[in-house]
Amino acid sequence: MIRQAIIPLAGLGTRLLPLTSVYAKELLPINGKVGLEYILEECVEAGIKEIIFIISKKKQIIKKYFYNDIFYKKIIKKKKDKRIISEYKKILKYKKMIKFVYQNNPRGTGDAVLKTKNLIKDNFFMMLLPDDLIIKKNCSKDMIHIHKKNKCSVMASMKVNKKNVKRWGIYSKKSNINKSNFYINDVIEKPDVKSAPSNNAVIGRYILPKKIFLKLENQKKGKGGEIHITDSIKRLLEDGEKFIGHNFKGKYLDCGTIEGYIKSSMEISKL
Ligand code: G1P
Repeated sequence: MIRQAIIPLAGLGTRLLPLTSVYAKELLPINGKVGLEYILEECVEAGIKEIIFIISKKKQIIKKYFYNDIFYKKIIKKKKDKRIISEYKKILKYKKMIKFVYQNNPRGTGDAVLKTKNLIKDNFFMMLLPDDLIIKKNCSKDMIHIHKKNKCSVMASMKVNKKNVKRWGIYSKKSNINKSNFYINDVIEKPDVKSAPSNNAVIGRYILPKKIFLKLENQKKGKGGEIHITDSIKRLLEDGEKFIGHNFKGKYLDCGTIEGYIKSSMEISKL
């Protein structure tokens, strides 16, 4: 059973400047709703019971969003507005599920994951990267289903333009299971076009084994001087750990760049 999800939220969001100069990118509204709430909805609908946010001192605003009770209570007392009451109830529901850990130096996704080590209870847990929205079909739910059947790690996958492999983690396939799933042979963080083993990219939904912490504890810096989760996954694969790549059915929206962010609002407004 996958009960816990972790969400790295300590990134600086430089690709979205100036929107992120005083604000957290994950709180930017996408078609009238805070981006992070789409991710939380996906978790809740997939049956996740506890969500661990990895934030930083600079991103306390994210905690405040869920801990603004005095403000809400005052307004509700005065106005008794139905919409505000239901929004507040939703925030209270999320608040009960969320725990916070801190990553004050943004040293990479692998380092962010390591911060959650003492909070992970089961042998497997989920990770969602908030820049990656997947709409129309709940990717986490489908991945949890695959995990239940196969009792192994699962990662989301999408074919990308060969020219852009440098932007992603890239898989090499071992063998196909069916149309939507394959066994992963290897994974390389942001390879050059020439050395990329395929154009199957890692998208930000992972079911990871608790064992990954053993690798992360001595994970050396990789591409761009960061500690990458991809590099620790690669080492687990070398040890023979089974990972399935899942070609998800939903529509992918990249909220980590200005162009993608604008497009996301337009796409969601069409739903
Ligand atoms: C991260 C991962 C990368 C993955 C991508 C998906 O990169 O390191 O392997 O393909 O997320 O969005 P980032 O977006 O942090 O550069």
